[in-house]
Amino acid sequence: MVTWSAPGKVFLFGEHAVVYGKPGLAMAIKPRVFVTVRKNRHPTPAKSPYIDGCFKAMGVTGSVYVNSQMPSSSGLGSSAAVTVATLSAINDEFDLDRTREEIALTAYQIERAVQKGRASPTDTYVSTIGGMVLITGQSRRKIPPQNLNLVVGNTLVSHSTAKMVELVAEGQRKFPDVMNPVMEAMGALTLSAVRNLSNPRQLGQLMNINEALLEVLGVGHPTLSKLVIASRNAGAFGAKLTGAGGGGCMIALCPKHMKGRVAAAIDACDARAFITSIDTVGARKE
Ligand code: PMV
Repeated sequence: MVTWSAPGKVFLFGEHAVVYGKPGLAMAIKPRVFVTVRKNRHPTPAKSPYIDGCFKAMGVTGSVYVNSQMPSSSGLGSSAAVTVATLSAINDEFDLDRTREEIALTAYQIERAVQKGRASPTDTYVSTIGGMVLITGQSRRKIPPQNLNLVVGNTLVSHSTAKMVELVAEGQRKFPDVMNPVMEAMGALTLSAVRNLSNPRQLGQLMNINEALLEVLGVGHPTLSKLVIASRNAGAFGAKLTGAGGGGCMIALCPKHMKGRVAAAIDACDARAFITSIDTVGARKE
């Protein structure tokens, strides 16, 4: 019997723009999802299509126990983390010798199958290798990590990534001359952010600009805006939605001593806040 864990993720910059080949920056975050796998010829039926997919992909049968503190369906990559941790645990328990790259790719294929073609490789890749990842087109590159003081605010408003991606595509089709420069600017924001990773004040300002551009794309939501404004008023350097938008989560970059205050300001808006930081490890044996 073995237990493996894997982290969730946030988009720091460039969500939606990455769909158009522009650079984006994602980061693995705590909390982790823990998955225990045990060889078993008579497995208990899996409760999730992701876990079913993992056993099928690896060609074995077994029992599994999942322990997750991460909110699901909120854009923090919890399904990717479950898939990555499950595959890693199966790999270990059955001595299958798959590399991290193979685990990341198989996890992506499972997500894509379960989500009917609508998964991005970002979540599974970041969860597998951890740290900060710069995405440009098909390439994903780990960059030196930075310890950012982040607060995540969950609006508790459900959203659909597929719908948000389609909404942005519609805007692109209708007003390409307007929207193309917005995508360009989002890509430029990511590259500026990478150059300013050690300067949280600048990063916060870039986040605020990114938030305004995401609003232009139409993926904002009144509750997201409320949490973003509340965070800034409570002392954050900057704040923006993270992931697909239209609900889900936002992030606030804070001075170290302000994290609690920002989290309280988000909670006071009837949302759920948690303080988080980078997870540099990715999938790990417990
Ligand atoms: O819903 P999330 O957090 O997995 O984010 C989606 C990010 C998009 O850029 C909108 C889509 C994608 O596949 O990258």
